[in-house]
Amino acid sequence: MTARPTYEQLKKDFDWPRAAAELGLEPGAPLNIGWFCSDRICDLGKQDKDALRWEDFRGESRTYTFDDVRVLSNTFATFLQDQGVTAGDRVCMFLDRVPELYIGFLGVLKMGAIVQPLFSAFGDDSLWTRLDDASTRAIVTQKKHLGKVRRARENLPGLEFVFVVDEANLREGEIRLDLAGLPRVEEYTCHPTTAETPSVLHYTSGTTGQPKGAQHVHNSLVSQYITAKWVLDLKEDDVYWCNADPGWVTGTSYGIIGPWSNGVTQAILDAGFNAEKWYAFIERQGITVWYSAPTAIRLLMKEGLDLVRRFDLSCLRHLASVGEPLNAEAVLWGREAFGLDFHDTYWQTETGCMVITNFPGMEVRPGSMGKPFPGITAAVLDTRTFEPLTQPGQVGLIAIREGWPSQIRGYWNNLEGYRKKIVNGWYICGDRASIDRDGYYWFCGRDDDVINTGGHLVGPFEIESALLEHPAVAESAAVAKPDPVNMEVVKAFVTLKAGFEPSKDLELEIMNVIRKKLSGLAMPQEIEFIAALPKTRSGKIVRRILRAQEFGEPIGDVSSLMND
Ligand code: WTA
Repeated sequence: MTARPTYEQLKKDFDWPRAAAELGLEPGAPLNIGWFCSDRICDLGKQDKDALRWEDFRGESRTYTFDDVRVLSNTFATFLQDQGVTAGDRVCMFLDRVPELYIGFLGVLKMGAIVQPLFSAFGDDSLWTRLDDASTRAIVTQKKHLGKVRRARENLPGLEFVFVVDEANLREGEIRLDLAGLPRVEEYTCHPTTAETPSVLHYTSGTTGQPKGAQHVHNSLVSQYITAKWVLDLKEDDVYWCNADPGWVTGTSYGIIGPWSNGVTQAILDAGFNAEKWYAFIERQGITVWYSAPTAIRLLMKEGLDLVRRFDLSCLRHLASVGEPLNAEAVLWGREAFGLDFHDTYWQTETGCMVITNFPGMEVRPGSMGKPFPGITAAVLDTRTFEPLTQPGQVGLIAIREGWPSQIRGYWNNLEGYRKKIVNGWYICGDRASIDRDGYYWFCGRDDDVINTGGHLVGPFEIESALLEHPAVAESAAVAKPDPVNMEVVKAFVTLKAGFEPSKDLELEIMNVIRKKLSGLAMPQEIEFIAALPKTRSGKIVRRILRAQEFGEPIGDVSSLMND
């Protein structure tokens, strides 16, 4: 691989066609991410190189070369096709971080279907809502999640295929997909997808309505390839670890497509957070590049430096972070613990790739998100005029000039909802920031009511809808509450129906209902029973007031709101 040019050089000469040319892409030519992440790497002579080194929480491990990934994704694609799944169908991957998830992801893309990854931690309602919205035709799952899939399927006539990757007592209409046991498909012709063919459908939360399906296309490869190469500084001999789940965009853009399109070995740990196990994993696997998140870093900080010192982590050479503001303390702690800087990166499900980054080699200013990636034109805009602010330190809306390759093409079934986020050719991210006199971006906060808990976005609407299903709940408002580890957690304000009294038991019961229906992340950590919710005259709940109360912020001018 060629050496990485400096940020300043690239800022001057980089354009996206240059990145496309590195991949040998010609305008209008077939483009299939599945092929680029496996067949092309084998064609470059790396067929025997490890692509995936996988371990789980029980200590089991498996290794797959790029040729294994190529052949097994062919096998996966062929199997789905033989069963009747067709190009354009939505195929949900509802799996823990098992090898079938990573390989199957490429297989679905190879056959031209749209892959819809969902967190296996999702409860019944979260799963159902997303399958229903996408009119998902097939789901790939495993024994331990089959119960949820069965319940969802009762009200999803369009969900025709349920594929199960491990042993299970299957019912009629459920099909075993034993990847290792299927005849290996050495040669496969990918569906002739092109740059604009839909690829991945990721669900993300907004303030209003149920989660929205962000529609990526195969052309996202161009951005994901080059940002992984330069910002994650991936090199031929690296062993890379992205600890994000592919249910989240980080786990696909940089947990599958970015590293594999660069032909880089990645290690995967199918286990939850555990500081000691994580350090042992880094040491054992010889991880060189690690992409993590602030909540994970804060959890490691809590365990202290003594624990880090018990391991030889000298293999690490580059660290990066995404998902929430990376506080300066976390960067400084990283320096002490690993002798390295965590490089903060800012982006979204909708951007598909990192857009503001601490580019390797650039001075890291702890607490700053860095500067726009070379092919990205970013600005902070005036909240009223939507014109770029020109004075250093002024706070405005983060916006990206339209047209980078991995920009989503819309929300599923809701193009209008997406177009509304584009003003004068700027895609408005929904976050606020300022830029200092040297061009560094500093995050200030979200510009909406979405709650960012441990890097995961949860929309108040989804929580409030689920709360309303509880017989005691009359009305509710879900807001963010500050938290030392997760940055924010969910707090729910609830008014009760006549005949119900607030109690600790009721609080726990309601919390549990949400955990089961949605997920542990969406579960309110606290429920406050109140007599009435603050509302505008037209009846809209003003979450801003409740949120400000939680953060101890001034409530601001409420008169206009109340007179709305
Ligand atoms: C937040 C994640 C501060 C932000 C890849 C954004 C961040 C949302 C950062 C997108 C960062 C992400 N500093 N905030 N470095 N990175 N965010 O769609 O609010 O799950 O809009 O994609 O996370 O979250 P999403």
